Amino acid sequence: MAKDTLMELVNRLSGKVIISSEITDSDVENIDTESLVANIIEKFEKSPGTILGKKELAEVIAGLREKKEPVQIEIIRSADFKPEAKEMESSYRIRNARVDRTSSNVTDFVDYFQDRFRKLKAMVSTYGNGFGGMVNTIESVNQYMTGREISIVGMVYDKLVTRKGDLLVLLEDETGIAKVFFSRPGRVAGDHAGELFDSAMKLVKDDVVAVRGKVSNSKFIIANRLLWPDVPMHMQKKCEEDVAIALVSDTHVGHKLFMEKQFGKFLEWLNGGVEKRKDLAKKIKYVVIAGDLVDGIGVYPEQERELAIDDVYKQYAVFFDFIKNIPDYIEVFLAPGNHDAVQRAEPQPQVGNGFLKDFKQKNVHLITNPSFLTLQGVKLLEYHGTSLDSVIRNVQGCSYAAPAKAMKEILKRRHLSPIYGGNVVVPSKNDSLVIDEVPDILHMGHIHKNGYDVYHGVEIINSGCWQLQTGFQLKQGHIPSPCMLPVYEAKTMKMSLVDFNNL
Ligand SMILES: [Fe+2]
Repeated sequence: MAKDTLMELVNRLSGKVIISSEITDSDVENIDTESLVANIIEKFEKSPGTILGKKELAEVIAGLREKKEPVQIEIIRSADFKPEAKEMESSYRIRNARVDRTSSNVTDFVDYFQDRFRKLKAMVSTYGNGFGGMVNTIESVNQYMTGREISIVGMVYDKLVTRKGDLLVLLEDETGIAKVFFSRPGRVAGDHAGELFDSAMKLVKDDVVAVRGKVSNSKFIIANRLLWPDVPMHMQKKCEEDVAIALVSDTHVGHKLFMEKQFGKFLEWLNGGVEKRKDLAKKIKYVVIAGDLVDGIGVYPEQERELAIDDVYKQYAVFFDFIKNIPDYIEVFLAPGNHDAVQRAEPQPQVGNGFLKDFKQKNVHLITNPSFLTLQGVKLLEYHGTSLDSVIRNVQGCSYAAPAKAMKEILKRRHLSPIYGGNVVVPSKNDSLVIDEVPDILHMGHIHKNGYDVYHGVEIINSGCWQLQTGFQLKQGHIPSPCMLPVYEAKTMKMSLVDFNNL
């Protein structure tokens, strides 16, 4: 075990601190790696390249036994800080998701899928008009002669690559199942044959799409076009006021690797106590936190070993002790994530008042996951991003290194959790995970890696995290990007990233 600890230490501190060869396996025996990494980084972050010898290691280990909980950061407020945002009236609207509880019996599932299919079919059929005609029901396919061109809308039931390398997709609607072929590139002529095949390879179970193609033997459709529900080209409405929105997620308060110092610097920045990008700090009118506010308890096996605070009430108490430092002219929106103390199944309700104890501030709003916010006219769709795991696992071309790509796939599908069963979803009669209104900004967290892109005019922002790389992430080869704060300026529609790592 000790050998693993030493190796892990060397890997995780690479580029930050050099472990001297005088340190042996026995020096780190029975020491918790998470705490060790966090404390070494904390001690030596200001002097990168430090050589950690036996003496320095002994000091850190001695400190480990004392320090457990995050210390409250003293926020320095600047007396001459005159933020423009303070002079402006806030204007916000919250549309929380409808949180249903169902018995999860067969009827609930049927109702859920019917509602989802109906909503997404309506969206894709709007595009389907580009097919130049009506959409056929699937049961009618066998009434047509070979060669007849038709269009259908269906939900993906299954997908497989044939021995010849073509793709066979089974599409289902209320009337039946159709077999749709997408020929492999090179087998058919046409400028878009490769593009069509690549697009179809991205199909996953439960996707709702429209297909146009020719009927073959009254049994199959040989596809020549594929349409997703998608977002139409979108023009953001320009905001008159020069205000900015700070996007945060995954603070994980209560975990040993929560980066309290850096988070404290962010709060100090909001109060004018940090020189860096002070111009931007003055404009912040809204702070949105997309879940995993705390690390929670019992979220994964042996989590307690990694916790600095093993009481979830205390985790929230410490979290709100940080949040109370946000100036009261800034509106703060707090959504839950998969680590928070609410039901795991989505849509998730607001964090319960019981966790707030005495905390009460008019500018702090608890919201659902997902929720739709309108901030000074800017439409922001807020979702923690738990489904990103299954999207990354199942959709070709997606990876943890590039969250914006997976978020784009979600927008294209107009559904926040496209793969049913990929994460826990309440099968309610009304599927609130359908993206029924096109936002200006799609904001997520969950994978602890910053990402940014613009898709059809929609800003896609993943706001990373405020937690160091965990042992689990190291094993997965996942490199997070902590303490990089995305800020969106509503008037200029400009996105900036403020780095709080070395302040
Ligand atoms: Fe997280």
